[in-house]
Amino acid sequence: MGTDVWPVHGIHLRTADLDLQVMTEGELGVLAAALPDDVEMNPHATRYAGLDDRANRRAVLAQGYWRALGLWSPDDWALPFVVRSRGELVGVQWLEGPDWRSDRTVDSSSWLVTSARGRGLGKQMRAAVLALAFGPLRAEAAVSSAVVDNASSLGVSRALGYRDTHRSVLEHSGETLQHVRLDRARWIGSGQSHGVVVDGVAPALPLFGVEAVA
Ligand SMILES: CC(C)(COP(=O)(O)OP(=O)(O)OC[C@H]1O[C@@H](n2cnc3c(N)ncnc32)[C@H](O)[C@@H]1OP(=O)(O)O)[C@@H](O)C(=O)NCCC(=O)NCCS
Repeated sequence: MGTDVWPVHGIHLRTADLDLQVMTEGELGVLAAALPDDVEMNPHATRYAGLDDRANRRAVLAQGYWRALGLWSPDDWALPFVVRSRGELVGVQWLEGPDWRSDRTVDSSSWLVTSARGRGLGKQMRAAVLALAFGPLRAEAAVSSAVVDNASSLGVSRALGYRDTHRSVLEHSGETLQHVRLDRARWIGSGQSHGVVVDGVAPALPLFGVEAVA
């Protein structure tokens, strides 16, 4: 399908080491094969009796893609990026605006294949979607959350200037979640561009309910 029909697929982000392209249906197979076993799944995701854990996670990954694009609206959107380093698939980075037109706040989630972790790539891919959010999408804030012992996820957030806000308890598991937030002024004030290059956003702005700046 051409980007003239669904311009969101024309968005392209680059960092020093990474290339982020919006996920396509044709990539679901290779992504499912790469999906690590330790990626937290949405506790509200369907559990299919008769599918083992791995098959269930793969099905949920595919449904997450279709749901994101199928239910897209400027009030509640979710944008999945496939992340590659020197042509190799290394992970997935999501950017979401679940109540976008009322609070201009983005959330994010991500995973890397185990061999790609701990080398600063998690930070680069989050910085890439923050550059999109605070840049052409003109977000006011970014939030994130992770279980309190997920040091690498919280490490990414803290390294990019997010501050702790509050904690909550996950109903299904009893685990404690740490919530963090990064305001626009802090992102802009930090002067951190992280060398991110954002391309191809202008044709997609109407899908985010954002007017182009002349
Ligand atoms: C979360 C994840 C994407 C982070 O990516 P990563 O490449 O491992 O993290 P980075 O190397 O970019 O580290 C980013 C920062 O966190 C810090 N950090 C990373 N791992 C850490 C750890 N175990 N303890 C403390 N700090 C840590 C780094 O020092 C770095 O901070 P700095 O720039 O100030 O040095 C990756 O680890 C992952 O895929 N984890 C499994 C899936 C997951 O938990 N996803 C998040 C929940 S949605």
